[in-house]
Amino acid sequence: MKGVILAGGLGTRLRPLTKITNKHLLPVYDRPMIFYPIQTLVDAGMREIVIVTGGNNAGDFLRLIGNGSDFGLKHIHYTYQEGEGGIAAALSLVEPYVHGEKIVVMLGDNIIEGSIRKGVAAFRKQRRGAMVYLAEVDNPSCYGVPVFRNGRIVKVEEKPRRPKSNYAVIGVYLYDSSVFDIIRKLKPSKRGELEISDVNNAYIRRRRLTYRLLDGMWLDAGESHDALLRANCRVAKHRKIQVPDL
Ligand code: G1P
Repeated sequence: MKGVILAGGLGTRLRPLTKITNKHLLPVYDRPMIFYPIQTLVDAGMREIVIVTGGNNAGDFLRLIGNGSDFGLKHIHYTYQEGEGGIAAALSLVEPYVHGEKIVVMLGDNIIEGSIRKGVAAFRKQRRGAMVYLAEVDNPSCYGVPVFRNGRIVKVEEKPRRPKSNYAVIGVYLYDSSVFDIIRKLKPSKRGELEISDVNNAYIRRRRLTYRLLDGMWLDAGESHDALLRANCRVAKHRKIQVPDL
């Protein structure tokens, strides 16, 4: 199984911070944002990771992460997404690197406190299909939101105005290699992007999407300036650092 980190995009929601650097290189407490998903994948047993970057300053990833040996990685590959085609379009670029294996995909701005080890182990045994992780949230409208019927996810709605549950589909996705055929058949959404929620919906239609609830904290650090600040404070607190009350 290989790890994939999607770290492209222009990070427009975080301007002007992202005018001169990539969102995933911004600091979260004492390290660049992308270190968190790399560590999560390494802790889950990945020894080979593909990073999709994009926008300006893509070369900085190489300077920062190099050949990945600081993380104990055997191989690290980099590829580059032109423009902003969406998360699924970024994912399609890793096909030549995965050679028909299953993949564990993480969005480069997602930070989790716990581990995805158990989910990865369960997915190794799942013959085919996909697995997503859910977290309970106060503001589901900002995310992909699962719609449940009889305990099954029957649909994922991307940033719905009236969410049908209080869960977010977080940026950790486990896919078999059919994901690339699914992406080839996707049509762009209203915002002109190939949506990861539509990939998950394609698996749902095939009745091949399973899910797990995430243990512990989840943060989408790149969602807004407030989210980035919260992520800094949460990570600091988690490391038992006293965060000043301002
Ligand atoms: C993306 C996905 C969304 C998911 C979220 C998790 O949204 O489109 O389904 O819930 O990541 O971080 P974005 O943060 O790119 O708006």
